[in-house]
Amino acid sequence: MITTTGEHLGPRGIVALKGEYMIPCVYHFYRDPPQIVRGQGAHLFDHQGRRYLDCYSGVTVMNAGHCNAKINAAAIEQINTLQHTCTIYLTEPIVRLAERLAAAMPGGLRRSFFACTGSEATEGALLLARLHTRRPLVVALRDGLHGRTRWAMNATGIEMWRTDPLPDPDIRFVAMGDVGGLRELFAAEGERIAAVIAEPIHGNGGVVVPPPGFFAAVRAECDAAGALWIADEVQTGMNRTGKFLAVEHEGVLPDIVCLAKALGNGFPISAFVTSDAIAAGYTRPGASTLGGNPVSAAAALATLEYHERNGLGARAAEFGGTLRDRLGELQARHEIIRDVRGRGLMIGVELNPEKVEKVDLVHFSSAADFVLERMKDAGFLIGKTGVGRNVLTFMPPLVVEWSELADAADALDRVLSEL
Ligand SMILES: Cc1ncc(COP(=O)(O)O)c(C=O)c1O
Repeated sequence: MITTTGEHLGPRGIVALKGEYMIPCVYHFYRDPPQIVRGQGAHLFDHQGRRYLDCYSGVTVMNAGHCNAKINAAAIEQINTLQHTCTIYLTEPIVRLAERLAAAMPGGLRRSFFACTGSEATEGALLLARLHTRRPLVVALRDGLHGRTRWAMNATGIEMWRTDPLPDPDIRFVAMGDVGGLRELFAAEGERIAAVIAEPIHGNGGVVVPPPGFFAAVRAECDAAGALWIADEVQTGMNRTGKFLAVEHEGVLPDIVCLAKALGNGFPISAFVTSDAIAAGYTRPGASTLGGNPVSAAAALATLEYHERNGLGARAAEFGGTLRDRLGELQARHEIIRDVRGRGLMIGVELNPEKVEKVDLVHFSSAADFVLERMKDAGFLIGKTGVGRNVLTFMPPLVVEWSELADAADALDRVLSEL
């Protein structure tokens, strides 16, 4: 039993309890991690009252900001009125949410199934594609990530997340942008392919933006073969890239879209959304006990309303463009930056570890970890993604102010000078 000395358990106490009682796969960032105790807008606060600019949003969940008063008020009112029943009883928030989501989605994507996590959304979307096509194969992208459930994990192309020791033989992989490889796969096995599942921009894979025309080729191959295209917008959706969905940058639309994370702004809710024609194939009973529960649905409804009223998509587009330019200037001055890329406020800064000269990284497993730690000490919590875990990732709440992002870029400039 660990006792608390002050008001908080503190980082050491938390690490000790984690080590004792949690499954060891649950890892955390930082050599010297803070205990996060409070959030407000674009900021997080630790147990010692230190304020941080949150540049990762709990991995792109808190797009409308921490402890958003309007969203939380809607959720609290719902908690105090009707907290839970299941979809076998009629309640209003879930259908109001479905209606509002249909209005926000492009094209004829207007029928939703609600669950709690991104993994369930991708898993459900794959089931829907299989119901529609009655085919076995799934095509996924090599550096994509789709979740922790069996099918979603097997469709994940990043080795570190492919924990299943007995991989599913019915998944095929192709690299983002490899139109030739995609065509070859379809030429060989097209009539057995149920779906192509892909993130419109790789999130965990290191903010990899598709080359122009790649998703048009995915659309064309799927159409020719009678397969479906599933866009996993769990990270990229909800205005993160400057549009409601990231596929809206591509000029072609998918058959099924998966949303989660920022949909509930911290309340657990996810969805897969499709057309009338594809939804018609899923008529056998389907239920998720907590999926689209009244509180999460009320929160998601208030979240969608907040995004629209406050133009969060336009903010992401504007601030994201300016931040990318600013980080591009750093690239010109710091050899260690290999690439700066992204869309809207989903930005990756890829490091070239071979360019570390001045600092001894003996206490850090990588240059990226060094930068993350120093940025945290300077008051900025940034992310780390990429197959080589060498991509610094900026995905702040979309309510962030430009001056705060400019401060983050200045801090990065100073930290990179140490390397
Ligand atoms: C693109 C993408 N899909 C699916 C998931 C899985 O979501 P969850 O962790 O909510 O199950 C993630 C999680 O990071 C993700 O980034």
